[in-house]
Amino acid sequence: MAKRDLLRIDDLSRAELVALLNRAQTLRTMRAEGGRVEPLRGKTLAMIFEKASTRTRVSFESGAFLLGGQAIMLRPDELQIGRGESMADTARVLSRYIDGIMIRTFSHQIIEDLAHYATVPVINGLTDLTHPCQVLADLQTCQMAFGAQALPTMTVAWIGDGNNMAHSWINAAKVLGFQLRLACPAGYDPDPSILAAAGDRAVLVRDPREAAEGAHVITTDVWASMGQEAEQAARVAAFKGFQVDEALMALGDGDAIFLHCLPAHRGEEVSAEVIDGPRSWILDEAENRLHAQNAVMEWLMGGRPLL
Ligand code: CP
Ligand code: NVA
Repeated sequence: MAKRDLLRIDDLSRAELVALLNRAQTLRTMRAEGGRVEPLRGKTLAMIFEKASTRTRVSFESGAFLLGGQAIMLRPDELQIGRGESMADTARVLSRYIDGIMIRTFSHQIIEDLAHYATVPVINGLTDLTHPCQVLADLQTCQMAFGAQALPTMTVAWIGDGNNMAHSWINAAKVLGFQLRLACPAGYDPDPSILAAAGDRAVLVRDPREAAEGAHVITTDVWASMGQEAEQAARVAAFKGFQVDEALMALGDGDAIFLHCLPAHRGEEVSAEVIDGPRSWILDEAENRLHAQNAVMEWLMGGRPLL
């Protein structure tokens, strides 16, 4: 059987995504009750980070340990990649030593090349195009807030940049069938082909209020992603009026929740009142990175079938 990777949410079928989310929640409950499973016993995850990380790095390293395995942190400046060794040779050699590769990098093409040449599963820890592990955790959080049966019928409002997180939400709407409304300022739209592939499940508007109206989930992200630091001032100007504040939250459903992948800039994309307020699920969302990724590693590296 061909090896599987997780590069995008829409690498998964609907049944696989539902099974992963259910397993993630089971692993969360199991951990809270002191239970554990060790499908990674004797196995190693290599983690390559070409960008900074708090949550992804710690949740994958801790997660591999919790599942009975270990993780090795590989910084590009310590690898021969930093001296020009190709991704193809790196992928083929690492595959002889370890059981899975998690990578955070810039261009999505890099991870596609890595996955092509590696003979072990590759997991996307964020590229400029997508951030699937984060949206798995976000969906698990929605499931906790509203129940698993509500996922296909919820409405999600994305406010802000049409970035890697927005793309993974669009992919998720395509796979699960919920309604996604994205409010992005002109010039900061999501990738047109990713948007088009979701059909009427993902709609682009210009007014954040139109996106938030009646939404069950209101979510946003930083205005300048990693690698876009030089554009910060221009983006602050362009995203004026796109802050998620109490007034915007009030337009949502009465039980609407707020999500943010973090790190956040209070006073820019979200007000402190909202992100630190009663509708914010950000800490459960961050915790769910651990459980969602453990479900992914158990499946891809630990041999536990999803279906
Ligand atoms: N949300 C997220 O991926 O956080 P880190 O950048 O800290 O890994
Ligand atoms: N869009 C953000 C997400 C950080 C987790 C970035 O790429 O920097």
